[in-house]
Order: sequence, then structure tokens, then C-alpha cells
Amino acid sequence: MITYKIASIPGDGVGNEVVREGLRVLDHIAKVDGRFQFEVTHFPWGCEYYLEQGKMMDEDGMERLAEHDAIILGAVGAPGVPDHISLWDLLLRIRKGFDQYINLRPVKLLKGAPCPLKDVKNEDIDMIFVRENSEGEYAGSGSWLYKNTDREVVIQDGVFSRHGCERVIRYAYELARSQGKTLTSISKANALNYSMVFWDQIFKEVGKDYPDVKTYSYLVDAASMFMVKDPKRFQVVVTSNLFGDILTDLGAAITGGMGLAAGANLNPEKKFPSMFEPIHGSAPDIAGKEISNPLATIWTVGQMLTHLGYPEWEDKIVAAIEDVLVAGDGLTPDLGGTAHTADAADAVIARLK
Ligand code: IPM
Ligand code: MN
Repeated sequence: MITYKIASIPGDGVGNEVVREGLRVLDHIAKVDGRFQFEVTHFPWGCEYYLEQGKMMDEDGMERLAEHDAIILGAVGAPGVPDHISLWDLLLRIRKGFDQYINLRPVKLLKGAPCPLKDVKNEDIDMIFVRENSEGEYAGSGSWLYKNTDREVVIQDGVFSRHGCERVIRYAYELARSQGKTLTSISKANALNYSMVFWDQIFKEVGKDYPDVKTYSYLVDAASMFMVKDPKRFQVVVTSNLFGDILTDLGAAITGGMGLAAGANLNPEKKFPSMFEPIHGSAPDIAGKEISNPLATIWTVGQMLTHLGYPEWEDKIVAAIEDVLVAGDGLTPDLGGTAHTADAADAVIARLK
């Protein structure tokens, strides 16, 4: 029997509810499968911790996390702690520190999921976003000069390295090839005359190794329109950190909302642990009411099982979520139901054999 060490960081707000349920599903799967078990260590880091201890995580936090096979994270952010502190000292620190340079986010209209678009069939929305997750607009490079004077100047650099662009684009080509899908690159070279011209050039260069993969290249403004008007154009999508951030919220909106939006921060080489985290935030307005939707986190647990080598379990989880959505029982209020967070997880567990 293989034992995987999982670090759990529920974080803030609804993160506590959804991670608890995600881990319950994981536990159920371990029992049903029998080949592996999970040893879960809980870390209390987050904004509450910050308000008590003056830090988002312990000094040796990264070393302790590094001893795990994977991390599951709920959400980070709470009123009372500036977002740039809570996120840079915990979430972004882990993404960058563990070189989780791939942010993999499915944008798929599951059977039974509500869709605000007209005349769309389930198979019309079936994308997988490969978001660059280590640099770009999130590199944290810049300066703030003459602060609080009338000469104040703020500069925020986008950092696009050859190494950083090549590896994420290559990952996306590999994914498209292995799934027999098209690959779309989304950039903005008409306005961002260094970074995105470079991105487009690397997309073409790397593409020489993948003549079998059919490609498209869109500007981000046009891409956002097409995601709404003609989503079936997109299959595998590769884009920069910020564009990927924005477009995957749009993706969540057209596939049933944030409660169904899964995501994984991957270090594909497995030199460091990867981190599994739903796209939604901490939702302080509903935190503690036990009405948050755990389905995104449960799907994220499926992504974790794929990463650990059991992709059949992600398929089973997605099928079980679809069954729950179609049956319409066990749905939380964001999906029009009255179920509590744990009921929704129970509904999935009941269908996972
Ligand atoms: C996300 C979030 C984060 C991001 C924030 C909280 C820093 O919006 O995971 O999409 O922008 O990456
Ligand atoms: Mn986001």
C-alpha cells in the first residue's frame, strides 16, 4: 500500500468548509480503491493566523510543505488583511517557491450544470486552460518611487523569460497532442509590443516540434468575445498569467459558476509538491454558513489523483459530479438547491464506487 503525504491548508472563509469535504471524498476513494492511503497534515495558515501571529505561514513553512506529495488549499483572503499581503505571503509564495509553473483549469460544461449562454450544448464548452503561473504580469517586478508625493511613479513590469514561456507552451502542446486536440494561444501582441510579440514568436518556434497539432492564435480581447459567442472554437488553451486569471473566471461564469471551477498548480517535474486549489475565493459573505459549494474542490481532488497517477479517479469524480448535477439533489444554493456543503459532498460520495 502506498502512503501519500498531503498538506492541507484550508486558509480562510469557505476554504475550511470545502477542503474538509474534499478530504472526505479523498478518504472515501482511498477506502474504495485499496491501493493507496493518505496521511493528511493540517496547517492553520491564513489571515486569522496572520492577525494572531503577524505572519501568513511559519518561517519553516516551505520546508515543511516540501516533505509532502501534494498540497490542497482552500482559499486565501479576509477582510482586515490587505490582499497583496495575504496572497503574496501564502498563495503566491507557494506557487512561485515550488515552481508550480502550470495552472491547469478545466472550463467544461458538465452535464446538468447551468449555462447562461443561449443554444449551447455540453460538448460545445470543453476547454482546458494552461495558464502560465510563475512569472509574466505576476512576476512582482517593479518599483514605487516618490511614494506619497506629487511625483509618485509606479512601475509594474511584465516578465517573460524564454525559459518560462517555452516550458508552459511546450506543456500545452504536449497536452494537445496527447489528447488529439487543437491548441489556441491567447496573447496581445498588437499592444504589448515586447512581451506578447515574444510570446507569439515562442508559440511558433515550439510549434515546429508539433506539426501534428492544429493551432490558433487570438488576441485576448477577441478571445474573450469568442468564449461567449462561439466557445467551441477552444480546446486546449495556453496563455499568460494575468490573461489566464481573467479568462478562467469568464470560463467559470459560462460553465455553472465558481462553485464548479477546479484548478491545479503543477510542478510537472515533481521536484516540488503541486498544489490543488479551486478557483473561487474565500467568500467571506457566506463563510461559516455551510452553504458553500464543495464540488470545485472535489474536482480539484480529482486533479490531484491524476497528478499522483490515478487519472481514472478524476474521470469517476467528474462523472459523479455530473450525476449529482443532473439528479439535482444535494445542490448548494449557488446552483439553485438548498443543500449544505456536506450534503453536496455526500451526494458525490454516494455515487463514487
Ligand atoms: C486565482 C486568484 C489569484 C490569482 C489571486 C487570489 C492572487 O484570482 O487563483 O485565480 O490571481 O492568481
Ligand atoms: Mn483569479
